[in-house]
Amino acid sequence: MQTLEIKKNIHWVGALNATLRVFDVVFQTRYGTTYNSYLIKADKPALIDSVHAKFTEEHIAKLKSLIDLKDIYYVVVNHTEMDHSGALGDLLREAPNAQILSTKTAAFFLKNILHKDFNGKIVEDGEIVSLGNKQLKFIHAPFWHWPDTMFSYLEEDRVLFPCDGFATHFCDERLFDDRVDDFKEDFQHYYEHIMGPYRKKILEAIEKIRNLDIQLIAPSHGPILRTNPGKYIKAYEDWSTSRKDPNKKQIVIFYASMYGNTKKMAEAVAKGASTINTEVKLFDAAQISPEFIRCEIESADGILFGSSTLNGDAIRPMWDIIDIMFSVNAKGKKCATFGTYGWSGEATKQMEDRLNGLKLKVVQPPIKVVLTPTEDDLKRCSIFGYDFVKTLTNNPSA
Ligand code: FEO
Repeated sequence: MQTLEIKKNIHWVGALNATLRVFDVVFQTRYGTTYNSYLIKADKPALIDSVHAKFTEEHIAKLKSLIDLKDIYYVVVNHTEMDHSGALGDLLREAPNAQILSTKTAAFFLKNILHKDFNGKIVEDGEIVSLGNKQLKFIHAPFWHWPDTMFSYLEEDRVLFPCDGFATHFCDERLFDDRVDDFKEDFQHYYEHIMGPYRKKILEAIEKIRNLDIQLIAPSHGPILRTNPGKYIKAYEDWSTSRKDPNKKQIVIFYASMYGNTKKMAEAVAKGASTINTEVKLFDAAQISPEFIRCEIESADGILFGSSTLNGDAIRPMWDIIDIMFSVNAKGKKCATFGTYGWSGEATKQMEDRLNGLKLKVVQPPIKVVLTPTEDDLKRCSIFGYDFVKTLTNNPSA
């Protein structure tokens, strides 16, 4: 695909990666992705972000078809992650007159990416840089998912360049949201995976762009959003806003049960944990997609993990759940483990070790049952759930 003029004198000069199926080693990208970069042809031409190193050659060729690279006045680095900065070193060699505009944090990261001096200018939050006939405003958006991030807003054209903000891993060369295939699910998937842990920061940044007149959102991945751009911002705002009842503690119980015995324990634990001030959600780890429980984990005040022991370990569905913890905001959350076993019973300890490693806080010893739980065992499970609630509320009567 060649370049595309997305608005008068604003050209897409990015790259398509239609075959990518896993991004950053862990995120599924069922329809590939794009690395979007934009050239603003103004009195002082500016390039917004760059592309993954793999696409350096075609990125530079696209630029050359539009401009003498020596004429590029600014390269705006909204975010330094390598999918947007990988081509930067080679690009700057060909565009020696370009000055890099970035946040202070991004400038620090760039030093460790480029490993050489570069002509950089740090832009402050709200600063406006003149491109001659156009003005580019910068809005800092730290932890939109990296600390270096900012948005750029081209005032005359009412275009927001939010880099990873409102992006989608979705490759369709028709580029505009009203031309490409349905990408709603992938748009939300991107938010859940990448932005979900930073909800507070997302809301803070949205507050800063609330009063901007935005006609088009040009993100760094996937479709360019021109059909009611406000609806995409509203979606982020909705997903980032907690709907938790502030008067209730929320407890999530995940279990994986080979023969239904750990399930019985989980149900008894849930019963004990259910009080007037708690809401308990019970999930069979083998029946849910770990990809879609991030919100549940993040909004939980406490999490309980139950697993049968198999070959001296917890069983696979529980590991899939626990693996999600590293990419959500779960640090410091209170947790405990339980499970059935035949003769050794290592599952609870294995899960505790991993949860400690992930900086969750194991607040009480595990409860274990040999093979099938008796009525007394189930009563113990119920008390275990009740005791767990007390650790959340610090209220002896829960
Ligand atoms: Fe698309 Fe955070 O990089």
